Amino acid sequence: MMNSWFQGKTKSDSVPLVWLRTVMAALLCGMAIQSGAVAQETGATAPAAGTLRQAAEARQITIGSAAASAFLAEADYASILASEFSQLQAENEMKFDAIHPRPDTDPNPYNFKGGDALVAFAQSHAMVVRGHTLVWHNQVPDWLKNAGYSAPQLAEILHGHIKTVLTHYASKVYAWDVVNEAFNDNGSMRHTIWYNQPGIGAGKGTEYIEQALRWAHEADPSAKLFYNDYNAEEVNKKSDAIYKMARDFKKRGVPLDGVGFQTHVTLKFDEPAKLASFAKNLERFAKLGLELQITELDVRLNDSSDASLAAQAKLYGEITTLCVQQPACKALQTWGFTDKHSWIPGFYKGQGWGLLWDEKYQKKPAYRAVYDALAK
Ligand code: XIL
Repeated sequence: MMNSWFQGKTKSDSVPLVWLRTVMAALLCGMAIQSGAVAQETGATAPAAGTLRQAAEARQITIGSAAASAFLAEADYASILASEFSQLQAENEMKFDAIHPRPDTDPNPYNFKGGDALVAFAQSHAMVVRGHTLVWHNQVPDWLKNAGYSAPQLAEILHGHIKTVLTHYASKVYAWDVVNEAFNDNGSMRHTIWYNQPGIGAGKGTEYIEQALRWAHEADPSAKLFYNDYNAEEVNKKSDAIYKMARDFKKRGVPLDGVGFQTHVTLKFDEPAKLASFAKNLERFAKLGLELQITELDVRLNDSSDASLAAQAKLYGEITTLCVQQPACKALQTWGFTDKHSWIPGFYKGQGWGLLWDEKYQKKPAYRAVYDALAK
């Protein structure tokens, strides 16, 4: 009974009962919100018959968005997030600098406030939560970077971090991006504080990734553990390196459950050869027995002309279809949902307009393209 994504897409034993009780209420509320939003839609096509969440659920796909607790106070933000998405992921609030802002010698090294607020919101709207991220070269706090820790000290800190965070969120966060962006585009290892500057002393190559996965599995054996990266959508040097690592891990029983494909793209990605390469890449990872997720999708534009928005919609639809057509692709997540709060303008000069709702919370053509690709 209940929603199929509870049964099929997440570990049912890790979903608290209280979530199940709220399912009907959340869905009914979502339908009510949706009908109001549809009335404001200006597209020429007939309104979508339901929410993204309903369409995705019928496909047994989890539909997610990155989110920030500070925006939950905006009524439009909260109502769209709750009604249209079945999953959320902290855009920043579970990263190392946010969640572990002080050294372990401090009486209060951790700050779970933002992450906990997001988990509470998710639970009260029957959404599942993805955790992001435990081992990454960015958003590492100054106390950690500047203290000159040795490799054994860093190993102890990281082990403690993984253990504390996964224990805190056990049964609340069903999947974690354990390691994020560990490879360079040419397939070599990225030099980072965790790898070799000075590193945690795990050894060469992918051994520190393996170590982090083992620590994560030990801390929460029911969490699904992911490796997550960008520019690895197509078959290329980076995805080859990730594939080689994943194949080795599966062969040796290293606890890797899935691979996340960030999918931060531009309209240049809309070429048949690139999309075909993405499908082929997903297929080879699927054959390893891994779960695949599109984790940070956005399609950034140079302007918001009708032509650009139409081209964006087409590409969003094509990428959604790739996930729908690949049985191992269990979740599709966008990196936020409103252009009002997207990271793109701050990181890519002159670019923006990357998400499904505009800065006034109006649905863009891309919304309908994703809906149609899910509902087809
Ligand atoms: C970004 C956030 O969206 C920004 O708010 C923050 O300032 C920087 O990080 N890949 C990732 C994400 O894995 O964590 C990044 O998120 C975007 C790129």
